[in-house]
Amino acid sequence: MIIHTDIVIIGGGIAALEAARNLSSRFDVHIITKADLKNSSSYKAQGGIAAVITTHDHTSLHIQDTLEAGEFHHHEENVKALIENGSSIVKELLQEGFKVDFDKDGEISLGLEGAHSKHRIVHAGGDATGKNLVNYLAGGLPPNVHIHTFEFAYELLLNSAGECCGVRVKTNEGEKSYYASYIILATGGAGALYECTSNCENSYGDGIALAYLAGAAITDMEFVQFHPSLLYVNGARGLVSEAVRGAGGRFVDQNGKPIMDGKHPLGDLAPRHITAHEMYKMRASGQETFIDISRIDHFDKKFPTIHALCHQNGVNLSNGKIPIAPGSHFLMGGVITNRYGQTSIPRLFAIGEVACTGVHGANRLASNSLLEGITFGKMMATHLLNNGNKQSNFISKNETGSSLPNNLYAKESLQEAMLNCAGIVRSNEGLQKLIQQLPSISSQKGRLQGYSKKLIELYFMNITASLIAHAAQARTESRGAHIRSDYPSKDELWQKKWIVFEQGKMNVRNDLYECNQTESYVNELF
Ligand code: SIN
Repeated sequence: MIIHTDIVIIGGGIAALEAARNLSSRFDVHIITKADLKNSSSYKAQGGIAAVITTHDHTSLHIQDTLEAGEFHHHEENVKALIENGSSIVKELLQEGFKVDFDKDGEISLGLEGAHSKHRIVHAGGDATGKNLVNYLAGGLPPNVHIHTFEFAYELLLNSAGECCGVRVKTNEGEKSYYASYIILATGGAGALYECTSNCENSYGDGIALAYLAGAAITDMEFVQFHPSLLYVNGARGLVSEAVRGAGGRFVDQNGKPIMDGKHPLGDLAPRHITAHEMYKMRASGQETFIDISRIDHFDKKFPTIHALCHQNGVNLSNGKIPIAPGSHFLMGGVITNRYGQTSIPRLFAIGEVACTGVHGANRLASNSLLEGITFGKMMATHLLNNGNKQSNFISKNETGSSLPNNLYAKESLQEAMLNCAGIVRSNEGLQKLIQQLPSISSQKGRLQGYSKKLIELYFMNITASLIAHAAQARTESRGAHIRSDYPSKDELWQKKWIVFEQGKMNVRNDLYECNQTESYVNELF
């Protein structure tokens, strides 16, 4: 089956929905998702949207918090664009009718999360902001936005001018091809490459692998954020939002002793790489870790999702302690784009977690990701509404013949190895071991049409894992979420250096968008 349209968006989270509803005023839009709209990190997001919406706060403070949390590894103009435009876009969303939580004085209730200097987290339904926002945006889509669920995108199509002109998908019934003037990746992150994650279980970094195979530039893959508090009952069972600590929750050990005292001036609300690392060290030394919620009144009303999650997993909250462990949560890296979502491949765009605009630096500030989704989703749409034109060359030049390596690392082994070797703490030795297990991914030629969805998904997992492992091995320092036991400090030489993968090579750039890469760093990678 073949569909010709204006725009195809791959993915169904906040960035995709916000883009679609704006694009729909001029274009026909097809959204394709590999599961349904409930299956996204956006939908699962508990905390909320970080945004400056009151006169008690200022965008300069939000910018500063973002830069400090991310250890100044940012594209600063894009950070400014995110925070300043985001503030207006969130205010517009509230004015148009998106319902958020209010306090008893009738003011919008603003939560506090790690590394924020102000209460600025707008939330809805207590800890169900993502779900409420997805439902709100999806509920308002006009008829020229078509949603196709359970379709798995496995190959981007490029024409002879090197432009992206389509995408091939697998459905439950067979194959389908979409041809469009613009293809937009909004596939989210890659948390499920790790054994222990807050993400959906099929969040494998598909969009990054798709873009990599098409030859797009990808960066910052070493920066994987681990959240310090996933509910842990014989494995990770979902997120225990940082908002719980913002409301008075504390990290404690099995004896009820506070863990973060004296570890960081912000204590339980220190940046995530600090708290996640502390939980990791405690657990590695055989201790158990908890969040003490005994100081939070009406926990069930304030945090209904977490309350239900605990109940479903047999956690008795009457003793005031939630068992937690750190787990993978967010990928700061991704497909390089500018603030309008343009990638290095013409007519291929990327928005949301799959993209890297440099706004998260080495460690994302809490609740900046829903902000990123709606802000860059809208900015990309506005850009295309003003500048978009029709594609006329739909003849794909993709190679024929198959090219899938026959030594793919099996899913569970890969997830375990990623946690052990490319997890919260990495070393050259562990990363080298991991890299040796992963297949070479230098060859980007060939078609995947003949392979099953399951096998292609595994291939995509192997590709994305390989990019993370190689970047983590190359960055011989510790910065933000990238912690190397053999290089425990920040290194000036790595300040504002971006490790970039493009066309099967790894280079280091002095600027996110620099094209002449630093020759001395150039490596034949695979
Ligand atoms: C949380 O609620 O703790 C997560 C928020 C986020 O990752 O932005």
